[in-house]
Amino acid sequence: MAPFKKIIENVKESIPGIDLESFKYRPVADEVREVDGNWKQHAWNYMDNYHIRFVHKGPGGLADAIDLETYTTELHQYSALQWAYARRPKEGFAPEQVVTRFKDPNDGDKRVFALWWFIFPNTTLNFYPWAFLLTSICRCREDLIGPGFTGSNIHWTKRSSTKETRSGSTNKSTLRI
Ligand SMILES: [Fe+2]
Repeated sequence: MAPFKKIIENVKESIPGIDLESFKYRPVADEVREVDGNWKQHAWNYMDNYHIRFVHKGPGGLADAIDLETYTTELHQYSALQWAYARRPKEGFAPEQVVTRFKDPNDGDKRVFALWWFIFPNTTLNFYPWAFLLTSICRCREDLIGPGFTGSNIHWTKRSSTKETRSGSTNKSTLRI
């Protein structure tokens, strides 16, 4: 059994300057979606940044918004953290919002675009400056025959955010699973 407390400690340590109280729950119509496919395949896809340049390609896509060359995966016990620098200088977290190890020693102005935590085996915590998204993937329906899984995307958005309805693949929180 994964030690939840330790996992959450790692998550919190990565975002020392993010006030989670500043986010509010935002219900969305398709919060729970049933998808054909194997849930393990989706979990694998989440961990595979290779697809970003094809599935989330620009213009206006995630591939445009992040510097893919800086895409980093940290392995932790029972979890993994993925992050990348924003391509544009004004986007991403303010340096004091995230842990100092993300600081580029050669360019103090670089900002982390997002933090994508994967908690083994089926949960993701996605932190953006304008939103937080929790995704849980599971094979929940007993009557499903063959591959199929249910994904729950639960959104919180920044109370003052103007990007609440932001759409397009730049905002990974709106992606379909
Ligand atoms: Fe994706």
